[in-house]
Amino acid sequence: MTKILMVCLGNICRSPLAEGILKNKVNPNTVFVDSAGTAGYHIGNAPDPRSIAVANKYGIDISKQVCRKFTVEDFNNFTTIFVMDNSNYNNVIALAQSPEHKNKVKLLLNFGDTKITEVPDPYYGGDQGFENVYNLIDQACTNIAKTLKNQ
Ligand code: 4NP
Repeated sequence: MTKILMVCLGNICRSPLAEGILKNKVNPNTVFVDSAGTAGYHIGNAPDPRSIAVANKYGIDISKQVCRKFTVEDFNNFTTIFVMDNSNYNNVIALAQSPEHKNKVKLLLNFGDTKITEVPDPYYGGDQGFENVYNLIDQACTNIAKTLKNQ
């Protein structure tokens, strides 16, 4: 089983979308997908209504997800940890206990179709921000799903 963890700051906007989008593209019998946040502000909450809405628009239901915080055990429990931006990258790397842990952490948009390297934080923006975030994540997840199929 390949286990993929999507990580952002709050685990209510970007990483829940990344979890839902990648889940929709892979075989659940061979790939497990989860998400977490580096901050604990929203633990136990559902995703942001704007993320739920943009996912719904594309036929994906993320409304049942529950926010949780990233933990050190996640390094052992997951094959790959995809982070949304450089700040998430630094926060996760700071918790790593070994070079093996560090090697598991990758910027999601390293697998994207554009030169953009970070998924922008849409929390304080409008709905257009969520559409943009959806598209950036969707492109990267399409490429990741293809790579997983070829493994
Ligand atoms: P996310 O967005 O990291 O994509 O889930 C955020 C959600 C909440 C906050 C910041 C970013 N916050 O400050 O509460």
